Amino acid sequence: LENRWYNCFKGEINNMRVLLAGGAGYIGSHTAVSLIEAGHEVVIVDNYDNSCAEAIARVEALTNTQIPHYEVDVKDKAALDAVFKKEPVDCVIHFAGLKAVGESVEKPVAYYRNNIDTTLTLLEVMKENHVNQIVFSSSATVYGAENASPLYETMKKGTCTNPYGWTKWMMEQILSDAAYADKDLSVILLRYFNPIGAHPSGTIGEDPQGIPNNLMPYVSQTAIGKRECLTVFGGDYDTPDGTCLRDYIHVCDLAEGHVKAVEYAQTRKGVDIINLGTGTPYSVLDIVHAFEKANNLKLNYKIGPRREGDLAVCFSNADKAKEVLGWQAKRNLEDMCRDSWNWQKQNPNGYKK
Ligand code: NAD
Ligand code: UFG
Repeated sequence: LENRWYNCFKGEINNMRVLLAGGAGYIGSHTAVSLIEAGHEVVIVDNYDNSCAEAIARVEALTNTQIPHYEVDVKDKAALDAVFKKEPVDCVIHFAGLKAVGESVEKPVAYYRNNIDTTLTLLEVMKENHVNQIVFSSSATVYGAENASPLYETMKKGTCTNPYGWTKWMMEQILSDAAYADKDLSVILLRYFNPIGAHPSGTIGEDPQGIPNNLMPYVSQTAIGKRECLTVFGGDYDTPDGTCLRDYIHVCDLAEGHVKAVEYAQTRKGVDIINLGTGTPYSVLDIVHAFEKANNLKLNYKIGPRREGDLAVCFSNADKAKEVLGWQAKRNLEDMCRDSWNWQKQNPNGYKK
């Protein structure tokens, strides 16, 4: 069996079946496309708390496949177990979580309850159903403010500045402890940097509810006229142009990183931490100007005060992903800006008609 999975990793067998918890969301839907394109099968479980079934219908149309999908809360152990019994899988990718930093400060208990509980329930149900591989959506936020960029996986985790970040920090710990106790378990902790962009078809993308918190949806909603003006949070940071630096990564690159991660998960046991970033920092103003150039438009923006909790600089060292997964981001900032705008233009109200 080991050998079979090794061959799979080498690209000689392409028949894994992967359960995507939270697979109707932004990153999950793009990962579903990449997995199917790589010859794998997917099963999706989502409670549509921050997504909708239309995203899955779009993935099905893009890939010309039918995806078994279930409206299930991952915290509901009996319902999750029923899916595992009905749909045997080799591996789980755990995307299911609440992710709005500001909201997590207002509703910490809801964030701890949902994010920690989904992780515990998944681990229990996986064990009972003999599924031993899990790939987890972690975040660069676990490096905290103590570590200076470029951020390496070998650095000690830092202090988080909000409950959302702490849930990621704690879930990494829970998964690591589980793997220490259960030597059959294979855990890959993927630390994402800043995913932006959309599938080039423009049929799936990020669909935030209400006023966007994140930069790229705010930029594209400003460009289309849904928001009047982008506020750049802080112009007086100690960076080349005074605005914050981040490691923006095209969501399709990120999705392809997950394909490599699930394939790699079959070949080893224990815990591996892997950054998924490009390793190249861009400023907020770089994003504004790249968006204007790639899409030949003018963006209404102003420099405003800093946002509480923002780090001046946050970017990855992306060497480990290259060495261990053979993966590296391929798409550039222009691709990210063009594809974000293409999605926004084709879906001015997101998945709502
Ligand atoms: P998303 O909100 O689009 O996707 C998360 C999905 O999980 C949604 O479809 C939501 O309905 C579902 N979900 C939440 N709680 C659930 C539950 N209890 N049961 C079933 N489904 C549930 O977010 P995303 O941007 O696709 O992020 C995916 C994961 O990656 C999240 O865990 C997020 O914290 C993490 N992450 C995201 C970013 C980012 O910038 N987008 C950065 C770092 C980490
Ligand atoms: N920004 C603006 N104006 C906006 C929105 C954002 O200037 O309207 C700036 C922010 O100040 C920051 C940059 O754009 O400098 C990126 O901000 P995002 O909110 O898009 O992303 P963050 O880097 O703050 O947060 C992301 C993820 C979190 C994760 C965090 C950790 O959204 O889930 O990275 O690195 F926890």
